Amino acid sequence: MNAAVLRFLGRPPCFEEFPDPTPGKDEAIIDVRAAALKPVDKQLASGSHYASPRELPVVCGTDGVGDLADGTRVFFGGPRRPYGSMAQRTVVPKAFCFPVPEGVDDNTAAALPNPGVSAWLSLTARAKLAKGETVLILGATGVIGMLAVRIAKLLGAGRVIAAGRNEAVLSTLRDLGADATVKLDGSDQELTEAFARELGGGLHVIIDYLWGRPTEALLAAITRRDFAAITSEMRLVQVGESAGPIISLPAAVLRSAALTILGTAGIPPREVLESAFQNVMALAERGELHIDTEQVRLVDIEDAWKREVRGGRRLVVIP
Ligand SMILES: NC(=O)c1ccc[n+]([C@@H]2O[C@H](COP(=O)([O-])OP(=O)(O)OC[C@H]3O[C@@H](n4cnc5c(N)ncnc54)[C@H](OP(=O)(O)O)[C@@H]3O)[C@@H](O)[C@H]2O)c1
Repeated sequence: MNAAVLRFLGRPPCFEEFPDPTPGKDEAIIDVRAAALKPVDKQLASGSHYASPRELPVVCGTDGVGDLADGTRVFFGGPRRPYGSMAQRTVVPKAFCFPVPEGVDDNTAAALPNPGVSAWLSLTARAKLAKGETVLILGATGVIGMLAVRIAKLLGAGRVIAAGRNEAVLSTLRDLGADATVKLDGSDQELTEAFARELGGGLHVIIDYLWGRPTEALLAAITRRDFAAITSEMRLVQVGESAGPIISLPAAVLRSAALTILGTAGIPPREVLESAFQNVMALAERGELHIDTEQVRLVDIEDAWKREVRGGRRLVVIP
C-alpha cells in the first residue's frame, strides 16, 4: 500500500510502499479516506514529543476518517505502530472507532475531532467550566484555539478573552464569540500589563496552547501584590506548547493566587471520548462548529509536511 513513511526522526516522511497491516485481537483494519496533518504529527516525527517513535520506519499520522470492512464510516485513532493514518490502510483498536454522522464531510470528520474533542474536554472534564465564568484562550489564533473560543461560548462562558499573535485572525474572533482580545506582542512587561487590563473583572479558566513566554507574562499578571481574601479559584489547563516547552514558575504565583495548573492527562476512557466526540460532531452537523481545511495528496506529503500553515487552517491528507 502507499504510505507516508518516516525513516529518520527530524526529517519529513516520504511517499513509499509499505506492507499492509493485519489485524490482531480487538483490532480493525481501516480503509483510510482522509487524515489531518496536525502539530502533534510533526512533533512525533521530529523526535521532540514524549511519545516519539523509538523504532523506525513508521507510517505517520495518529488519526483520521475511513471505512471499516463492513463499510461503516468511522473516525479512528491510535494506529498500532509501525502503522499510521497517512496511508491507504491502517490498523487501530476497535475501541477507538467512532461512527461519523452522515451530515459531516470527510475533511471535517478527519480534521475536527482531535482539536474539537480536546477543546471540549479541556473546558468540561478538566477545567469544569461553569456557566457565566470567564475563560482565557491562550493561543486563540490556531486551529484548536479558534475552536476553543467557540466551544467556550457555546458551553455558556460569561466572558471569553482570546489571546493570540496573528492580528488578522485575532480580529475575526469576535464573530466566534470572543468578548475581548489580547495581542501577544511587545515586551514581557507590556504583555503582562495587557493581560492585567483584560483580567480586571476576574478570571476562572485558562486554556493554554502556548506555554513559554506568553504563559509567563500571564502568570505575572495574575500574581497579586497584596494580602487579599481569595474569592474564586482559577484553573489553568496546559494543552499545547506552541510558544515553548518550558516556563519559569515563581513561587509567588501559587501563593498569591488560587491557581491550579492541570494537564490534559493523556487519553481519557472510551465513554468520555465518545460522548465528547458526539457533542462535537452534533455541533458540526448543525453548522455551529466549523474547521477550515485544505486537501493535499498523499503523494505530495513531503512538500505538505514542510509547509507552514497559519490562519487556523488544517491540511488533510488524501491517500
Ligand atoms: N493535548 C491535546 O489534546 C492537543 C490537541 C490539539 C492540539 N494540541 C496542541 O495545541 C497547540 C496548538 O495546536 P493547533 O492545532 O492550534 O496548531 P496550529 O493551528 O498550528 O496553531 C498554532 C498556534 O500557536 C501560535 N504560536 C506559534 N508560535 C507562537 C509563539 N512563539 N508565540 C505565540 N503564539 C505562537 C500560532 O500563532 P499564529 O496564529 O500567529 O501563527 C497559532 O495560534 C500545539 O502545541 C498542539 O500540539 C494539543
